[in-house]
Amino acid sequence: MAETEGVRRRDFINIAAVSAAGVAGIGIVVPLVSQMSASADVLAASSTEIDISAIQPGQAIKAVFRKQPVFVRNLTPHEIEAANKVDVASLRDPQTLEERTKEGKENWLITMGVCTHLGCVPLGAGEGEVKGEFGGYFCPCHGSAYDTAARIRKGPAPKNLEVPKYEFSSDTVVKIG
Ligand code: FES
Repeated sequence: MAETEGVRRRDFINIAAVSAAGVAGIGIVVPLVSQMSASADVLAASSTEIDISAIQPGQAIKAVFRKQPVFVRNLTPHEIEAANKVDVASLRDPQTLEERTKEGKENWLITMGVCTHLGCVPLGAGEGEVKGEFGGYFCPCHGSAYDTAARIRKGPAPKNLEVPKYEFSSDTVVKIG
């Protein structure tokens, strides 16, 4: 009996020690979380202006928006045609090129450069990079292939590359965010 009580007492001491550690842990976590949410607010307010005047048809650039890569691509007429030829109903994430671009500016494809599988940066925006079998972007991590509208066509990624909120400030400047 005395033995059992001893065990119980030790258990209680252990539990008390764990609880104290738990409380201390919460004390540390809270300030970190509030710092994180403060910077999230700052991030939410930020936007990025990009000069697109030097991007020729068939070229793309990588920019940074809220610490993540963004691809700005000037599609050729051939790439636009290829995107428009696809049967949208057959797509995993059905969207037309028109829905993914601004009216009258279908050649400007602006997407996040973040694979929708596990977040790698796909290839295809840099000069000489492989674009994959659908001519858009190719994620080297697990082989997701995107087409010329940056729609997912093959591989494990579930969604098209995300189109961020953006607007044309002028014919040559795009404001993202
Ligand atoms: S992260 Fe792109 S295919 Fe897995």
